[in-house]
Amino acid sequence: SGLITYDPGYANTGSCSSNITFIDGEKGILRYRGYDIDELAERCNFLDVAYLLVHGFLPKKDERAAFSELMNQHSMLHEGMRHFYDLFPDHAHPMATLSAMAVTLSTFYPELESHPNEAIDIMVTRLLSKVRTIAAFTYKKMKGQPIVYPRPDLSYCENFLNMMFYTPVNGYKPDPVITRALNQLLILHADHEQNCSSSVVKSVGSSGANLYASISAGICALWGPLHGGANQQVIEMLEKIQQEDNGDITRVIDRAKDKDDPFRLMGFGHRVYKTYDPRARVAKAICHKVIDHLGFKDPLLDIAQRLEEAALADRYFKERNLYPNVDFYTGITYRAMGIPTNMFTVMFAIGRLPGWIAQWLEMRDGSEHRIYRPRQLYVGPTQRSVDVNWVK
Ligand code: CMC
Repeated sequence: SGLITYDPGYANTGSCSSNITFIDGEKGILRYRGYDIDELAERCNFLDVAYLLVHGFLPKKDERAAFSELMNQHSMLHEGMRHFYDLFPDHAHPMATLSAMAVTLSTFYPELESHPNEAIDIMVTRLLSKVRTIAAFTYKKMKGQPIVYPRPDLSYCENFLNMMFYTPVNGYKPDPVITRALNQLLILHADHEQNCSSSVVKSVGSSGANLYASISAGICALWGPLHGGANQQVIEMLEKIQQEDNGDITRVIDRAKDKDDPFRLMGFGHRVYKTYDPRARVAKAICHKVIDHLGFKDPLLDIAQRLEEAALADRYFKERNLYPNVDFYTGITYRAMGIPTNMFTVMFAIGRLPGWIAQWLEMRDGSEHRIYRPRQLYVGPTQRSVDVNWVK
């Protein structure tokens, strides 16, 4: 457009200070509240990490039990919210439904708005628990199957998988390997400092808008293909290579390098990481574990691995420090779990929720809290007058 900005995409703007997440993009380090991502993924479950992000410390045994209990208490949706599902068209993208339902929570549960200092755990568990239920109901509606209600005897991830895959005919038997893998994937998504959607959540919240409204906006930001939407795009790209190029990766690599072609290798590159994304490394290992466990021979995994190998050996990608990011291997794992492609970004949103909430709280309660209001460099016309003969 010819518009010159001081810092396009805020690539060099530090908008705040934060105690939550540390990234070293050169060394490929990611830590939540000081803990390495690999260790958290290995030793904790998703709710522990959600608690850590929001409170700053891992829960003790009794705190863990109380958090889990609150999660159960707040897992149901108001029955009135179910009617909304009947009005969305069958082809509605689940991210649009998720965002609409997230802001709708503020009409059914306005107390969060009027009591902003309500116990943090209630706020957090309400959102975490209900967003999971919304996501599973969205899937059931897409499938035309009866909705499955949350069960208090199941863990957070088991509950989600049961709400997704239980049918009266086939039932659903929790699989510990799949439940563990889901916990790990959600942990990998849980926060990533001032990324696009978190900045949006904070920008909306900075005006004093309520948490549900801020989260709903964050879900919309995450949906974009350059952000969380990339996990859906990765699978669609791999499917195209399989179907249209007979598994040959050359055309895609050539297109990604062609400056006259807007195509990008999806799941590659990152604003901050100039080396292998530490989340991608863990995601790749989880992917192999799940695929081996299920005995699911996915030809897309083979294509992905060949694509990664070719890109990492290619001068174009080397010169620009382009490596696989978190979205490269997560989609193949979600696919093996039976989650449909158009719900991959919903999974990312469920995972990112604790990070959004933690950052929203840090901003709202912090001494740096000011309304987000960047400036611009005006490069339009100088003052002029409407011509006396205009539309005469
Ligand atoms: N394929 C081909 N070329 C690429 C790619 C890619 N995936 N990513 C970056 N480049 C090139 C880009 O064309 C540019 O080249 P040149 O210097 O010759 O103009 C150079 O690398 C720098 O790219 P950029 O667009 O300035 O980098 P950015 O920091 O603005 O964008 C990004 C980061 C993640 C949006 C970008 O790498 C991208 O579009 N990747 C594909 C989409 C994707 O996988 N997104 C998920 C990101 S991780 C999870 C998340 O954030 O949700």
